[in-house]
Amino acid sequence: MNKNRYFYPVSLSSTPKKYPVPLFSDKNQLEKELNRLGLKISIGGALKGGTVSQVYSGRLDHKKVVIKHVDNLIPFDPTEFFIDKNGLKTDVQVLKKLDKSKNIRVPKVIKVFFEINTIILEDLNESGFYLLNDKIILRELDVNSALTIGESLANLALESREWEKFITNESVEQSIYERGLELRLAYPNTQTEYLFLEKEFVSNNQYFCWPDGHPKNILINKKGECAFIDFGRSHWGDQHYMLPNFLAHIVIYYLAGYIEKELTRDYLLQCINTFKKIEPVDENIFCQYLAMEVLHRANGKWITGIETKEQKLALLKFGYTVFDEKIGSVDKLLKLLS
Ligand SMILES: Nc1ncnc2c1ncn2[C@@H]1O[C@H](COP(=O)(O)OP(=O)(O)OP(=O)(O)O)[C@@H](O)[C@H]1O
Ligand SMILES: [Mg+2]
Repeated sequence: MNKNRYFYPVSLSSTPKKYPVPLFSDKNQLEKELNRLGLKISIGGALKGGTVSQVYSGRLDHKKVVIKHVDNLIPFDPTEFFIDKNGLKTDVQVLKKLDKSKNIRVPKVIKVFFEINTIILEDLNESGFYLLNDKIILRELDVNSALTIGESLANLALESREWEKFITNESVEQSIYERGLELRLAYPNTQTEYLFLEKEFVSNNQYFCWPDGHPKNILINKKGECAFIDFGRSHWGDQHYMLPNFLAHIVIYYLAGYIEKELTRDYLLQCINTFKKIEPVDENIFCQYLAMEVLHRANGKWITGIETKEQKLALLKFGYTVFDEKIGSVDKLLKLLS
């Protein structure tokens, strides 16, 4: 009789787990606690629904700021991951390292309260930045940001190679397991495609990797300058993932009908070419990571704007085609898009 030695029983997700109780039940409690800690702060509206964290705009000594409070992410379905609140420590560590960078813009960390897992950040909207994702959904993507984002992502890879390794909240193994889930499901009888990328992702782990460099974590201004936020889920892993992870979202929103064909082509080319001036691009790995991310988002996971079956099928078709036809160059990838 099998004693469950070699498989995980369904009971892993069917047995109710005891999760820690959240620190605060709402933003008023958080505001009170920050006041008690000596801050003249008022918390305003939420900047998003609050999945991994609760982020609000607010005023500190009458100046506009952003308040980011991170608690444990309790899975809302039992098959999902639990994400520990210590991601905030990783976020702060990276923000502080990049604070001095001349090439990568991040918000200033104004105050840190690790005892209540809360930080106060510079509000980037105050200096004219707005969320790239919002612009894409409004069909107002500007090609100028391709250059600055390509340059900043390459500089992030380059500069962070000087950093001494520090402990991150999440591991590289957990990261690829989550981001590669849909690729695993796509080839159930072989897993060749997933296992190849998993090896790349995990074994190239001597350097820092920001796996969340997507349009919900990138802000741009009228001049096309960019700023990066949200480093809490970073880890040491394959830096080659960062550019295709970002550009996958340009492909996703093109296939879903938010970006014109010509603009998509120009955007991809200009971003890749600017990146290449600073860092090399392995085009085969680039195409595979990009397609993996398109499959990951194909049903709209954690992103807005992917709702219809036509959008989802277009994303799936693109992802499967890249792997089935072994598309391994940017040129072929662009042809596939046209
Ligand atoms: N410094 C900032 N200036 C302006 N807006 C910000 C700033 N920090 C965060 N935001 C806004 O708040 C949103 C959520 O912030 P952040 O990405 O750090 O939290 P998160 O919970 O990790 O996000 P998600 O789970 O959606 O990726 C961002 O998408 C952005 O719109
Ligand atoms: Mg975010």
